[in-house]
Amino acid sequence: MSTVDWKNYDPVLIPNIKDLHKIDVYRKNGGYEAWKAVLTDKKKWADPKSVVDEVKSANIRGRGGAGFNAGLKWSFMPPADGGPRYLACNGDESEPGTFKDRKIFEYNPHVFIEGALIAAYAMEITSIYVYIRGEYKSYIDMMEKAIQDAYDAGLIGEDIFGSGYSVNFYVHSGAGAYICGEETSMLESLEGKRGYPRVKPPFPAQKGLWGRPTTINNIETLSHVTSVINKGADWFKSVGAENHPGPLLYGISGHVNRPGVYELPSGMPILDLINDVAQGMRNGKKLKAVIPGGSSTPVVRADQLDGVTMDSDSLREVGTMLGTAGMVVMDEDTDMVDMLWRITHFYHHESCGQCTPCREGTGWLEKVMLRIKNGEGEIKDLDLLLDITTQMEGRTICALADAAAWPVRHTITRFRDEFEARCKKSVHAVA
Ligand SMILES: Cc1cc2nc3c(=O)[nH]c(=O)nc-3n(C[C@H](O)[C@H](O)[C@H](O)COP(=O)(O)O)c2cc1C
Ligand code: SF4
Repeated sequence: MSTVDWKNYDPVLIPNIKDLHKIDVYRKNGGYEAWKAVLTDKKKWADPKSVVDEVKSANIRGRGGAGFNAGLKWSFMPPADGGPRYLACNGDESEPGTFKDRKIFEYNPHVFIEGALIAAYAMEITSIYVYIRGEYKSYIDMMEKAIQDAYDAGLIGEDIFGSGYSVNFYVHSGAGAYICGEETSMLESLEGKRGYPRVKPPFPAQKGLWGRPTTINNIETLSHVTSVINKGADWFKSVGAENHPGPLLYGISGHVNRPGVYELPSGMPILDLINDVAQGMRNGKKLKAVIPGGSSTPVVRADQLDGVTMDSDSLREVGTMLGTAGMVVMDEDTDMVDMLWRITHFYHHESCGQCTPCREGTGWLEKVMLRIKNGEGEIKDLDLLLDITTQMEGRTICALADAAAWPVRHTITRFRDEFEARCKKSVHAVA
């Protein structure tokens, strides 16, 4: 249950403060106080573990899509042994419908840098990498500058605040592959290799970058750490949905009057997001469907959306997921066959090809969808598509195959009439 009146909610990640990307403005507004406290206030933050415990208690569920408790993930790191340990910050942001982390890079890079530094200290990490989508050239430049400014201010580097703790921070540019957002593929890419996902176990906490303990977190996840330290885990839990708490960046795109990224409590009613926040449907059209959290999350029909809120529990009830909270809103004129074909094209193009069910399956999905889109499909092709998805799910090294299969299964199931109508009439009659 939301305990925050969202109309009066005060953003913490992207507040409306002019020039907040500049380090002096950020510091004037309380920036880097959490970082200083963690390193110097030993009454409150006795040791790194006390920080992990606070973050675990806040239940920041990973904003990169899988929704795993960040503090719990940090607690999987083995005890420090004097060797290198890494934090890899995931800013690859390539899932269609997802465009939120870029707002942090652009408007408030220091809230992310501060959160990443705190995370690094909590896990006794010696180096931080931020992996940024290659197409985000201007944000890569902005991050380089923000990190350099923090080095110049003595907030990154050797013996920070005289605490004896030292850490380095590096920016790494992606080169345009969606698969490099998958965490182990990102590690390969950071090591200078082709972005092939790794078989797990071993998990990155045991054997990550260059074989050393590594934690991977999304940019938004790490940015929330700053306010958890400033305001406390209880504050974070008081915002938004009980089982998926805290502020959330909603990316709303598609047929609405005011698309954009909005920071609001988690657990927002989907219809409020569309009708109030995004100011309603464009040209007064009727709502047809919503993809709630990036292209891999199952589409939901408009008639299923009454009372549904943007949190994992509520979305599960209508057979979908929160994912990245990148909502794609579609109006009554949307051609669902065309929409699904585009999604299958994307996943086929982005499959790395290591696993047969994904390499071949994504190709089949695209080929059959193209046939249906061109009016040359048969009713039995719909069942063929559903069958292919069952051959893909849970049988591969990474979750890209699942991400490709889910939209196909659910779009066909939820809009079957529309797909049947596009199939050949003669075959329809005998099916
Ligand atoms: C194909 C694929 C692409 C992904 N792309 C991203 C991405 O661009 N950004 C991201 O944060 N997570 C992405 N993920 C999820 C990551 O593997 C990982 O779960 C996440 O970065 C962990 O951070 P979090 O726990 O803070 O969410 C992707 C996963 C898959 C399977
Ligand atoms: S599931 Fe697909 S993208 Fe993932 S490793 Fe296998 S072939 Fe590559």
